Amino acid sequence: MMQIYLMDWLNLALKLLHVIAGIAWIGASFYFNWLENKLDRLNNRDEIAGNLWAVHGGGFYHLEKYKKYPQTLPEPLHWFKWEAYVTWLSGISLLSVIYYFNASTYLLATDSSISAINGIGLSLLGLLLFWLIYDILCKSRLVNKSAIFIAIIFIVISFFSYFYSNIFNPRAVYMQIGAMVGTVMVANVFFVIIPVQKKLVDACENATEVSLELGKTGYLRSRHNNYFTLPVLFMMISGHYPTIYSGDYGWLVLIAVIGILVMVRHYFNLRGVGKAKNSLIAIIVLSTLALIYVLAPSQSKDQKQNKEIVTIAEAQIIIEKHCVSCHAAEPSNKAFAIAPNGIMLDTQENIITHKNQIYKQAVLSKAMPIINTTNMTDEEREKLGIWIEAN
Ligand code: HEC
Repeated sequence: MMQIYLMDWLNLALKLLHVIAGIAWIGASFYFNWLENKLDRLNNRDEIAGNLWAVHGGGFYHLEKYKKYPQTLPEPLHWFKWEAYVTWLSGISLLSVIYYFNASTYLLATDSSISAINGIGLSLLGLLLFWLIYDILCKSRLVNKSAIFIAIIFIVISFFSYFYSNIFNPRAVYMQIGAMVGTVMVANVFFVIIPVQKKLVDACENATEVSLELGKTGYLRSRHNNYFTLPVLFMMISGHYPTIYSGDYGWLVLIAVIGILVMVRHYFNLRGVGKAKNSLIAIIVLSTLALIYVLAPSQSKDQKQNKEIVTIAEAQIIIEKHCVSCHAAEPSNKAFAIAPNGIMLDTQENIITHKNQIYKQAVLSKAMPIINTTNMTDEEREKLGIWIEAN
């Protein structure tokens, strides 16, 4: 009991840290990306590549970007790296606290044939493998052929997504891919971008030349991170949307959403440099609508016609059988000290209060009962659905 209670605090502390560090990191990255696009490149001294005036928080700011580096190394020189590292460290800790410590409940699929420890191993292996594959691709000549490079990255992510959908539960698949892409982003900072900047600083101190290649390498990884941002943010919050992630083709839906979000990012990047393409908006909107349409719950004519009447008493019996062991003031399921997410389904009033959530979690999707611990059948889900739809 005490342990479960303290785990909640640990979970909360890590999540807050993760969100705060993530905001600081992505916020700075958005800001510098914007800055780069908005620099006034015309009216500058010789050594300056661009400058920018801004007003914020009650003051005027003036920034200059150097073509190479300043004559003497400025002190203090501010770096942006801890935001990224803390985001990753807190993220991995969260992944452990939530998904690894309770792997059989949160990580593995309902009918997964592998053990918890193997599941955790495969999850960690994925983090490493995706980075290695991505890094090799970046160091190959392919990196200059954007279309092929993007296609390969998509194929690799699709492969992982499909692979994990066979062993992990749908929610964990999204989190796994999110963690893999997030890891690549942080590794880009740690292994490439920061070392490039260190070399720049060395060059500044010794007044030596910096190769064009060097700047390019850092820029490229930073650019990739920019495109990864929106998909990662989506994957991190996707756990609240079972109707999206838990269909039979959840892994494919993930790829579609990633594709759409990459296009959204691309649109804003183009817009930033005054080259916005309206056709891209059309593609984004149409593909989003298509996705919404394809995922819409279908109801066969048969079902509609033979709709029996389900009473609340019948609905309650189903919920008592399948949900109340966890969703009660004092759950009988020993893994839970209190009702998960504070949702209690132990009285008719409570069931009515939460009927829309029940619909999302147990009818539109099979996210609940979690890993179907209680073997809820499709007929039972259908019955619940009929009662909720009629009320
Ligand atoms: C084995 C325990 C268990 C059973 C049985 C169970 N749940 Fe849950 N439920 C959970 C856990 C754990 C969470 C919290 C998931 C999370 O971390 O977001 C949860 C969360 C929920 C939520 C909130 C989801 C959100 O994102 O806010 C709803 C609604 C819900 N369950 C409904 C049900 C229904 C309906 C049933 C029965 C058909 C059911 N649950 C059976 C463990 C269970």
